[in-house]
Amino acid sequence: MTSPGHSCNIETKGLTKKFGGFTAVDGVDFCVNEGEIFGLLGPNGAGKSTIIRMLTTLSRPTSGTATVAGHDIVRDPHKVREMVGIVSEKMIMYDRLTPRENLRLFGRLYNVPRRALDDRIEELLTIVNMTKWADTQIGKFSTGMRQRINVVRSLVSKPRVVFMDEPTLGLDPQSTTEIRKLIQRLNRSDGLTIVLTTHIMNEADVLCGRIGLIDKGRIAAIGSPSELKGRITEKGRTIVDLDLFDPPPDAADRLSRAESVLSAAQTENRVKVMVSRENAFEEVLSAVRENGLRLRNASVSSPSLEDVFLHFTGRSMVDEVKDKVPMKGGHGPWRRSGSGRVR
Ligand SMILES: Nc1ncnc2c1ncn2[C@@H]1O[C@H](COP(=O)(O)OP(=O)(O)OP(=O)(O)O)[C@@H](O)[C@H]1O
Ligand SMILES: [Mg+2]
Repeated sequence: MTSPGHSCNIETKGLTKKFGGFTAVDGVDFCVNEGEIFGLLGPNGAGKSTIIRMLTTLSRPTSGTATVAGHDIVRDPHKVREMVGIVSEKMIMYDRLTPRENLRLFGRLYNVPRRALDDRIEELLTIVNMTKWADTQIGKFSTGMRQRINVVRSLVSKPRVVFMDEPTLGLDPQSTTEIRKLIQRLNRSDGLTIVLTTHIMNEADVLCGRIGLIDKGRIAAIGSPSELKGRITEKGRTIVDLDLFDPPPDAADRLSRAESVLSAAQTENRVKVMVSRENAFEEVLSAVRENGLRLRNASVSSPSLEDVFLHFTGRSMVDEVKDKVPMKGGHGPWRRSGSGRVR
């Protein structure tokens, strides 16, 4: 959050969304500065998409509000819609149309004048290196090529703020890199303000100037990746990475009872332990022995965003995103599971 007097390009105030008795977004406050790439990072069901839907006026807050580029999302939804671009989770494009036709269609929806629209489309196709493919039906494209068009589609009306919900979900590694570069380029060259959601920590780390960690509809922490990591190390806290032989499923629980251990999280045979002091390494090793755990390897590591998430929420985010299951139908390696959503 910024100091008083500083103007936010996007500012939420107690933003809340309830579905029946269930609170999906719970009093969220954050500020996004102009020209910033701001990430909402959190596990499945954390409320990321719901926040984006409210900020883009696709869903009305139950309480609280927000301003986007100076307009109130509840009082002036039409104004907000004119200011923003949206890259939604699902690609809504017509397979039987070409990129040029798809972009033209969206431009008309936004009432972009014909001449200006044609120029803009050429410009956007050039940005994503797709001029060659401008007149091929997009149904014939790879997922990565389609996503390039999907991203620039949000820019047809020249918005100053673009919301991207999981822009790299379902893409192969090469297309993921391409889309990330595109996002950075748009931000740097045009000073575009971008809010994106992701459950991939590394993505948030490399792309975002600042990140809001979302957990169960609430903001657990906000800051730049290095600030967030710094909050772990500032008091001498250290991460110890333990590689164990055949650990029992409660190895992390056992270790977290040791006095100097602040938290511990287990993924298969590895346990990451956060200790309160730099010199607590020895104490961790004693706790390993006392609990009958067998050590293969141990090292001190610098904190990652995963450690930050664990620190602020008490839970491991890696465990929380397990329900992304392999996708059927060949549109990429991952898809969300319909039934596995956390309520
Ligand atoms: N229309 C709806 N009706 C009822 N519950 C909903 C609705 N939309 C979302 N939810 C619930 O609200 C919670 C937050 O959902 P949301 O889609 O915002 O999460 P997310 O952080 O985007 O997760 P993911 O990483 O899976 O996309 C989830 O528990 C979800 O099931
Ligand atoms: Mg989502």
